[in-house]
Amino acid sequence: MACVGGYMASGQWKRPEDTSTTKDTIKYYTDLARLADRGKISAIFFADWFVGFDVYGGSLDTMLNAAHQVAHLDPYALVSAMAAVTNNVSFAVTQSTTYSTPYVLARQFSTLDHLTGGRCAWNIVTCFTDSSAQALGHDKIMGHDERYDMADGFMDVVYKLWESSWSPDSVELDRTTGLGFDAQKIKKIEHRGKYFNVSGRSQVHPSPQRTPVLFQAGTSKSGTSFAAKHAEAIFLNTVNPQQAKKTISDLRAAAAANGRDPQSLKFFPCFMPIIGRTPEDAKEKHERAIANADPVAGLAQFSGYTGIDLAKFPLDEPMDLSGMSQAMAIQAVFRALEASEGEEKRLWTPRRLGMRMALGGLHPCPVGTASQVADVMQEWIEEADIDGCNISSVTNPGSWEDVVHLLIPELQRRGLYWDDYKVPGGTFRENLLGEKTLRDDHYGATFRWKHEDKAVSFGG
Ligand SMILES: Cc1cc2nc3c(=O)[nH]c(=O)nc-3n(C[C@H](O)[C@H](O)[C@H](O)COP(=O)(O)O)c2cc1C
Repeated sequence: MACVGGYMASGQWKRPEDTSTTKDTIKYYTDLARLADRGKISAIFFADWFVGFDVYGGSLDTMLNAAHQVAHLDPYALVSAMAAVTNNVSFAVTQSTTYSTPYVLARQFSTLDHLTGGRCAWNIVTCFTDSSAQALGHDKIMGHDERYDMADGFMDVVYKLWESSWSPDSVELDRTTGLGFDAQKIKKIEHRGKYFNVSGRSQVHPSPQRTPVLFQAGTSKSGTSFAAKHAEAIFLNTVNPQQAKKTISDLRAAAAANGRDPQSLKFFPCFMPIIGRTPEDAKEKHERAIANADPVAGLAQFSGYTGIDLAKFPLDEPMDLSGMSQAMAIQAVFRALEASEGEEKRLWTPRRLGMRMALGGLHPCPVGTASQVADVMQEWIEEADIDGCNISSVTNPGSWEDVVHLLIPELQRRGLYWDDYKVPGGTFRENLLGEKTLRDDHYGATFRWKHEDKAVSFGG
């Protein structure tokens, strides 16, 4: 996230050597992009949302005081600077379908796709907090399934703008004839739907990928059916490979039922490793991370994600959930956490939960040498059929450097990581899926420009 500290590591910015407090400077991002490019990382993912989490104690104060997931910049603005200093690494930017409009968002991503040379992706989210709704002019957040229904309608409009408005041979820029863009090959889309009515041409000529690579992370019934239709890559929040295996095989099957090649969906579970040069070095880093972790900010993050205010519980007493309507949901999180490695079945206090949230939450957090961490990832690759890992940082600097300098060489030695980008200097989709634009079996490809379209909707 483009804000102080790590996404899943509250409190670590207090270290004297920390640079995450400079996330309001371009240098932070250009340094990060260069490092990722050197490490042959496929993409940098920016999580994003509006406002922040203000459920804990009914306010944002805890998150503000802890400088955790607040004061965060708009990732759109960072990506061009990062692209300018790199050739290969790609960038996934989160944007919500609930508050943007398809026309505006299509233009923003076409712009990014041009400026990055096709190295951009969109993490499609629907937002889930009332405070985001209130900041954006609504009383409360729209219902969960309705948000996905709206997101589905949103996608139709952006596919039309990206895929069908400008024909592939509409860009002439012919200096001899003086013909710039062939108006006969650029049509207005005319969309009438439940949520959006849009009449207009894409404001931007076709970008290298046309549609950016589409990421998503839904886990509910409507979230997964959205993913099976639209997502090319999926973020998972799963605690162990067995759980991930089930989620992945269910989603691949749902995609196949939509006529898609199930292996063309790429899965990225989250990890937050702590990597040392020796086991002792890793242990020391872990102990330091525990000492700096902010469990109350972790709890506030948990409350934000779940909508359940845990501020009323004394920090060091086992939580008495009796009488709470959300007791089952909280118990389910405890059971999920207990299913992860090294977590005992003993009573959960708010501090224990907060510490867990402050150091990776539901993500696996292997601590060890590069070889020990690679063992864990290898198990996931072999058992759960994952395609890559979405890695969160604990410290800045530190975590990303350890990934690039220690972990990736180890994964390469094992043949689990490419020695170079598949298409150096290519687009994100070429490196991820071997194709520049949407695959033919993707729903969005049905919107591609067709010559017979020409007759239908010119003018205006
Ligand atoms: C790794 C990961 C990253 C996510 N990033 C964001 C984000 O940046 N912004 C956001 O609003 N939601 C984000 N989400 C939440 C998802 O979009 C989604 O709301 C959540 O997984 C719940 O799924 P559901 O809506 O299908 O119930 C993320 C989820 C995961 C697992």
